[in-house]
Amino acid sequence: MKFKILVVLLFSIGIFSCTEKETASAKMDEQHRPQYHFTPDSMWMNDPNGMVFFEGEYHLFYQYYPDSTVWGPMHWGHAVSPDMIHWEHLPIALYPDSLGYIFSGSAVIDINNTTGFGRDGKVPMVAIFTHHSMEGEKAGVLDYQNQSIAYSLDKGRSWTKYEGNPVIKNPGIKDFRDPKVLWHEESKKWVMIFAAADRVRLYHSPDLKSWEFSSEFGAEFGGHGGVWECPDLFSMTITETGEQKWVMLVSINPGGPNGGSATQYFVGDFDGKEFKLDSGFAKEVPKGSAKWVDQGKDNYAGVTWSNIPETDGRRLFLGWMSNWQYATVVPTKKWRSAMTLPRTMDLAKDSTGYYLISKPVKEVAPLEGEVTNFSAQKFDRDSVIFQFAEPNLLKVDMEFEIPASGMIALRFLNDEGEYVDVGYAVADQQYFIDRTFAGNSDFSKEFADFHTAEADYKKESVRLLIYLDVASIELFADDGRTVMTDIFFPKKPFNTVSVLASESDVNLKFGTFTKLKPAGSGK
Ligand code: FRU
Repeated sequence: MKFKILVVLLFSIGIFSCTEKETASAKMDEQHRPQYHFTPDSMWMNDPNGMVFFEGEYHLFYQYYPDSTVWGPMHWGHAVSPDMIHWEHLPIALYPDSLGYIFSGSAVIDINNTTGFGRDGKVPMVAIFTHHSMEGEKAGVLDYQNQSIAYSLDKGRSWTKYEGNPVIKNPGIKDFRDPKVLWHEESKKWVMIFAAADRVRLYHSPDLKSWEFSSEFGAEFGGHGGVWECPDLFSMTITETGEQKWVMLVSINPGGPNGGSATQYFVGDFDGKEFKLDSGFAKEVPKGSAKWVDQGKDNYAGVTWSNIPETDGRRLFLGWMSNWQYATVVPTKKWRSAMTLPRTMDLAKDSTGYYLISKPVKEVAPLEGEVTNFSAQKFDRDSVIFQFAEPNLLKVDMEFEIPASGMIALRFLNDEGEYVDVGYAVADQQYFIDRTFAGNSDFSKEFADFHTAEADYKKESVRLLIYLDVASIELFADDGRTVMTDIFFPKKPFNTVSVLASESDVNLKFGTFTKLKPAGSGK
């Protein structure tokens, strides 16, 4: 009895506060569990939602079904982090209710209390999401998706749904979802963008409760191989020239460049009501063709954080690291799917036009451990250049001379003979990831494949920045101009890197291999 009391006491004062460590090490033993990418502790996850920074915390809400590892009645799961890398899991934020499941959406900080939800000087965090009525969908009506809001006065820990929901009623459009809200300073109005079938709609509001239709965009431009989802809209300034433009992200499923889900973008101008595609950019994305945020298979429904302080000024992006072609059947047991690395987004322009640049956030750097440097040298093709042991997490940064012909690649290999290749094909001017032999792929005929990324701009070299986690590779080629994200499920972790090439030798300009540490499950 006394012993029991002592144990309870020790627990409560934190001496036995081993739960977090236990969870972290248990997670290291779970097959395919990413070690520095966000995953739900258990059960099903899809899109990132409600990403907002507030009082030192990055909030990540996400599409979550707590009762199964496959998609079901959607909730908003919740986690917070001081750095977007170390996450603390919090209780579910939003539960389905009489108006339906809680589909994707965004969150803002209502600093001026335009909603009137604020009380006693507490600033409201407001979530804007889609209510999806399952009864409506089953009954075959068209207006079963509507936009609603909820607010929190305690940093997202507890939520009150607005009694006037929905705030935007569906006029009879079957796919009508995924609101992202921003404050438009020039017109002093809130702006909402969301997907409506094969285009986006824009609305404006003084108070997040009453909304007026502004315009729509997209019927004549971009990829239309599937339904549009999860848009985002933000202003960006090109650092070198000071030129300001608006960037719109739109996810599409299916219709991605390598099949299934992917996210396209548009560059133009926005006056608070109407988005006008830049005339040069319009030529690049006539209906049926698109520019992609990430040309790999596994970066979907990504959007950017709101309320990042001006002193920081970054545009920070996170995507769901999966693809609807196989998301519900990937071979993980306790949980399903992960998020991409958080990334900065920048806009650039050259003679070919505007383009986005994505790079991992600098907050990943503290995970870096032992570094191995390679000076300029010639490698024989097919030679092993690096071997590494657990935890098998790696950052690779290498610059090669562009070979005269054929291709050049890095092969990440394990003791089972499974591998994934990441490289560049010279004549096609394409980066590629080949995961055909990267492990288990029985679960979907669409999984084992070779994926390509257009990179038909002028290059001085082949520059590969690669982040390898247990079950994913993220390639940021040419300083983030061409990005590919692919997941895989090898029997054992990769532990060897070799160089492949068509030419007999390979000229390296420089290279570093940096071992990465697991982020653990919590702070
Ligand atoms: C995108 C999406 C959204 C929707 C949510 C449902 O992956 O289909 O359009 O709101 O997932 O979970």
